Amino acid sequence: MDYDVKDLGLAEDGKKRIEWAEKDMPVLGLIKERFANEKPLKDVKLAACLHVTSETANLMRTLKAGGADVVLCASNPLSTQDDVAASLVKDYGIPVFAIKGEDETTYYNHIKAALDHRPKITMDDGADLVSVLHTERADELADVIGGTEETTTGVIRLKSMAEQGVLKYPIVAVNDAQTKHFFDNRYGTGQSTIDGILRATNVLLAGKTFVISGYGWCGRGVAMRARGMGANVIITEIDPLKALEAVMDGFRVLPSIEAAMVADVWVTVSGDLHVIDERHFKVMKNGAIICNSGHFNVEINIPALEQMAISHKPVRPFVEEYLMDGGRRIYLLADGRLVNLAAAEGHPASVMDMSFANQSLSAEYMLANAERLENKVYGVPGEIDSSIARLKLDSMGIKIDQLTQEQDKYLHSWEMGT
Ligand SMILES: NC(=O)c1ccc[n+]([C@@H]2O[C@H](COP(=O)([O-])OP(=O)(O)OC[C@H]3O[C@@H](n4cnc5c(N)ncnc54)[C@H](O)[C@@H]3O)[C@@H](O)[C@H]2O)c1
Repeated sequence: MDYDVKDLGLAEDGKKRIEWAEKDMPVLGLIKERFANEKPLKDVKLAACLHVTSETANLMRTLKAGGADVVLCASNPLSTQDDVAASLVKDYGIPVFAIKGEDETTYYNHIKAALDHRPKITMDDGADLVSVLHTERADELADVIGGTEETTTGVIRLKSMAEQGVLKYPIVAVNDAQTKHFFDNRYGTGQSTIDGILRATNVLLAGKTFVISGYGWCGRGVAMRARGMGANVIITEIDPLKALEAVMDGFRVLPSIEAAMVADVWVTVSGDLHVIDERHFKVMKNGAIICNSGHFNVEINIPALEQMAISHKPVRPFVEEYLMDGGRRIYLLADGRLVNLAAAEGHPASVMDMSFANQSLSAEYMLANAERLENKVYGVPGEIDSSIARLKLDSMGIKIDQLTQEQDKYLHSWEMGT
């Protein structure tokens, strides 16, 4: 088996971590059991480009149980858990191409190694795999019947490809399932972003001015949790509706240049380019901490920061100190890459349970339906979404009411008024 991981000797720790995550992934566990019996993905070659974490390992095991012939590469150079990658290879016989801290050339070589597997289905997080396939490996597109996409940024890229008529196979946007973004983006990113900042810096958040750029699904979650830790939260936005929502949720909303002057900690999670830029670096307070939780490391203009700084040096793992004019210091976390995955462990397993239940069922759906789908980006079918919510509630021991016949009739009629 061909693979490229840091050290197979790390496998024992990785296996423990995979098993620890598994106990919090009951919905995925039920799917794995059914997949093992029914083998719906029998002999299907599947290439996944995802954050190589313990939760992803359980997704890979589920797909393999369903009969798929899977290979995994990293969707970010800094998010790989090397022990998990080792265990997937050694204990579960799943080829992995991922090493934490790999340079850009290795990152893309790993994506190409996954494509060498000649997948029938792709499973992407950020659309880098799909992008390489469509540009550098277009002659292999004929093998592929469909794919799935995990995150907001990937869905945006793929929709743009579909609009330009260059997308060559259908995609299910797993991110757009309600059981994905309501929970993973909000509660997962909310908690794990704070976790990443704390593990990297150990700062006290109480009393700090904590700026969040982007009040989307992720931003709302980070804001909610930062407030819970006692921080004074400020939101910056470009969408008037989201800005208004932030105001009504009780947050201060400021233009980013004003927020920059008061920020103690600044997280950008917008999916946009250069949200923290040169003009902000000029006015930031001494000691300001900046980080990104959006998909790509483009939200902070790091080249501009490097150019403006007199010098820079690492001062702790995942903390780079930039010395600015006048002796000010700005601290950049995790090279501007997703701070929750680089400096912490990403989302907790119980939330990835739903995201990866969506991935598994969407792969099964794609296999069964690819022929009738056009080369577009589709949502996750509503039945899959609600079945995952129901299973998750069951696993938590939570019961809910059912409509009575009378209520059902009322909710489907118009005749009855006051
Ligand atoms: N860290 C993680 O584990 C994780 C998890 C899920 C998603 N993501 C990524 O996080 C990013 C955000 O995802 P989301 O689901 O919250 O998206 P979203 O579309 O719900 O929200 C993004 C928000 O950012 C705002 N925005 C855009 N440009 C801005 C700017 N210049 N300044 C301020 N605000 C701006 C938009 O108006 C929008 O409200 C994406 O890149 C996504 O892929 C990361």
